[in-house]
Amino acid sequence: MENKIKWGVIGSGGIARRRTIPEGIIKAENAVLTSVYDINSNVNAAVARDFNATAVNSIEELLQSGIDAVYVASPVNMHPSHVITCAAGKKHILCEKPLGMTIEETEKMISVCKKEGVLLGTSFMMRFLSQHQSALKIINEGKLGKPVYGRAQLSCWYPPLPDAWRQDPVTGGGGSLMDMGSHCIDLMEMFFGKIKSVSCFINNSVHSYKSEDSAVVSLFFSNGAMATVDTFFCIPDNSSKNILELYGSGGSILAKGTIGQGDSGEMTAYLEADTSGYNAQQLRNQADGVVINPLAVNTYRAEIEEFSNAILRKQEPKNNASLGLQNQIILAACYESARSGRIIEIK
Ligand SMILES: NC(=O)c1ccc[n+]([C@@H]2O[C@H](COP(=O)([O-])OP(=O)(O)OC[C@H]3O[C@@H](n4cnc5c(N)ncnc54)[C@H](O)[C@@H]3O)[C@@H](O)[C@H]2O)c1
Repeated sequence: MENKIKWGVIGSGGIARRRTIPEGIIKAENAVLTSVYDINSNVNAAVARDFNATAVNSIEELLQSGIDAVYVASPVNMHPSHVITCAAGKKHILCEKPLGMTIEETEKMISVCKKEGVLLGTSFMMRFLSQHQSALKIINEGKLGKPVYGRAQLSCWYPPLPDAWRQDPVTGGGGSLMDMGSHCIDLMEMFFGKIKSVSCFINNSVHSYKSEDSAVVSLFFSNGAMATVDTFFCIPDNSSKNILELYGSGGSILAKGTIGQGDSGEMTAYLEADTSGYNAQQLRNQADGVVINPLAVNTYRAEIEEFSNAILRKQEPKNNASLGLQNQIILAACYESARSGRIIEIK
């Protein structure tokens, strides 16, 4: 293996074509796009042409095309069989989120990859956003004090469309919660650590497809912090600003637009030097906010470079399959809570 990982792509026509190929695989220093496969051969041929790759007609052909790794970006119900086939072909795999539709599927994917000796990563690329990393550093250094509360929001307008796999749990595993809430839950675990219990409401507030278009989750963390995740398919794109709020006993970090596909948003930290006193008037705006604006990082490029590096160095990728499994466990608990009306403890 040289110092560049040769990538193949399964499901080249969606997010792969929009973001991960042009911004990630093509731009990464240690990656090269070799071959692409999509069930839609016209789309696949166009992607191959645009990005100077070979269009193949089957996964078997993809596995024989001299690649080291596969980026799986097919609909969620196809992830298990695509990952297992690639693992049997001895290819390392970066799979889009959620890894599977259920915990059992995800566990099977992980155990097959382990048995075949290949790496499996979860595409939680929002972890790589430099502002998220700065916020994490502030929390880890104790500057936020004791973590108290967080909110992560990701919503969009997603009207009923023919054959939309996300609109049926049989193909998507769920709706807004599974699709976008998965990122928010993962980010909240990155910031606050392990989740201890969850409660959740889901609904079809506006759209009448089979998957939920609305979800609000309450999370209770092992460290005593709490968080909410709100994620809707029925709020206009421009009305939802992808809010991230992190509060602790020493201040807050408030952000707009950092959650999502872009490379940055607005983030300000309001940190108190001294919280020992008590002010009965509860005056606000005493502390000037500090704008958190590190050099922007393209999250798709970062995830491809990090995963390629993990292959080259024969080490676990940062966004490993355990994160994907943990996410699946929380998602399953959320749906169980929504179904039963109970708080679900995470074992
Ligand atoms: N991380 C992110 O920023 C991000 C953004 C969007 C989607 N996603 C994830 O990426 C995955 C794909 O989502 P999308 O929005 O690109 O979906 P999409 O429907 O837009 O694209 C999926 C592509 O897969 C192809 N496809 C369908 N069945 C296939 C099969 N059996 N074999 C090969 N190709 C097949 C389709 O023709 C299509 O081109 C999902 O897991 C989703 O959650 C991640």
